[in-house]
Amino acid sequence: MEIKNEAILVLDFGGQYCQLIARRVREQNVFCEIKSYKTPVEEIIKCDYKGIIFTGGSNSVYTEDAPKCDKALLESGIPILGICYGAQTLAHSLGGTVSSSEVKEYGNTSVDFNNTSMIFGNVKPRGVCWMSHTDYISKVPDGFKITAKSTDCPVAAMENVAKKLYAVQFHPEVQHTEDGNKIIRNFVYKVCGCSGDWQMSSFVTTTINDLKEKIGDKKVLCGLSGGVDSSVAAVLVHKAIGKNLTCIFVDHGMLRKDEGDEVERVFKQQFDMNLIRVNAEERFLSKLAGVSDPEKKRKIIGEEFIRVFEEEAKKIGRVDYLCQGTIYPDVVESGVGEAAVIKSHHNVGGLPDDVDFKGIVEPLRDLFKDEVRRAGLELGIPEFLVWRQPFPGPGLAIRVMGDITPEKLEILKDADAIFREEIRLAGLDRSINQYFAVLTGIKSVGVMGDGRTYDNTIALRGVTTSDFMTADWARIPYDLLAKISSRIINEVKCVNRIVYDITSKPPATIEWE
Ligand code: XMP
Repeated sequence: MEIKNEAILVLDFGGQYCQLIARRVREQNVFCEIKSYKTPVEEIIKCDYKGIIFTGGSNSVYTEDAPKCDKALLESGIPILGICYGAQTLAHSLGGTVSSSEVKEYGNTSVDFNNTSMIFGNVKPRGVCWMSHTDYISKVPDGFKITAKSTDCPVAAMENVAKKLYAVQFHPEVQHTEDGNKIIRNFVYKVCGCSGDWQMSSFVTTTINDLKEKIGDKKVLCGLSGGVDSSVAAVLVHKAIGKNLTCIFVDHGMLRKDEGDEVERVFKQQFDMNLIRVNAEERFLSKLAGVSDPEKKRKIIGEEFIRVFEEEAKKIGRVDYLCQGTIYPDVVESGVGEAAVIKSHHNVGGLPDDVDFKGIVEPLRDLFKDEVRRAGLELGIPEFLVWRQPFPGPGLAIRVMGDITPEKLEILKDADAIFREEIRLAGLDRSINQYFAVLTGIKSVGVMGDGRTYDNTIALRGVTTSDFMTADWARIPYDLLAKISSRIINEVKCVNRIVYDITSKPPATIEWE
């Protein structure tokens, strides 16, 4: 990855807050990237980082395969801030003592700071910090002084100013740490001497210029889904090379109500982009006819998507580059072991392996999701697209339980559109992270007027989550649920019952299939 004018490195020792630390640094307008602790020191030094932050980690420095920091890095003169395990490994490597405590210190803890330290200069002398550790530094290495303490932690922070080495036992990156942002800011500005040149407006201009230079007069192909990432990536490339970018938008017919037309309008009319919309609804529905197994549905859609894309790409003729909306969290190795496959999340935007391109263009590789959104706004992409909730590649196919028919899709699209409209009108569309309707496949008895009905049940699902790995069900106000329920019953044909899903993830998943 190309290094910006100034950058901080987050060295990952296996901590769960690794990406959060990087985001906190970027919030201070300083570019930041994450690398594994295994990265060779020479490679790190070559990159000319302004400073390095060692993350936490789940190990004890005394376990046999504990991740270690290379002493050469500590002697390189690059400013370093160790956090939690990062602090302990720093202390241990330099001859300090790390001890094991009987009890784990966990949660909000009151910490006393020495305000003469550069990193605590403007923080409250006593503040709440988030701790999560069993081991602690019991003796600091030679040349270090203690700069913060708590009741149970004799060395809540230590530093060696001459060597530019700093360490904190608590987590400044989590919200619960009162002055955490100030501490990170002090480190990157005062200790590392950063000036804060990472701004979204300059990212957009620089990226467009870089793309112009890289692509020249060559041709680029992009699979546009209408999601945030592919949209922002495509607009960036379009601003750089104009009509030499061709976007293919495969409408598989299982998008939300009016979504295909909206995508077409924004990219064709507003941005005047070379967009090919392939209306492939019938083709997908005929492949899916009679199929009710969720995994089979996903597989069919994923494969068909590639076929359609390939056929269209062939019509265009030779292209040199493929543009993809990869973002930074996709790039960072998670370092986590093999997780059980609950659902095969076929990335429907995924492209054929055997298409021959000169290279890939991934203009968002360095960005976190919130930064992608800011770049999108900077580029003039409408808010409804930029703030769009995630939508699964297989679309409504996994929200119609069982087999799919055009009639079922229509019922679901109408119900879902009402739900989304009401959530937006109530001003909840940014606080509920994902919300949608599901056609449950259950029919039940009802009464309308004087007659008996036997009709469909729609389930509403709304969740709050930050990472979509775990989620809680959204506490939508009862009155709003009542309004949505009566609107769906009155306005959508063949629906006589609405239920609200009150399960968190786990044990349920967000989608029903
Ligand atoms: P689950 O249902 O596994 O969903 O809790 C977590 C997030 O992933 C989305 N999702 C998918 N996205 N292809 C996708 O591109 C899929 O097959 C797929 N299945 C689930 C889901 O909408 C939620 O945001």
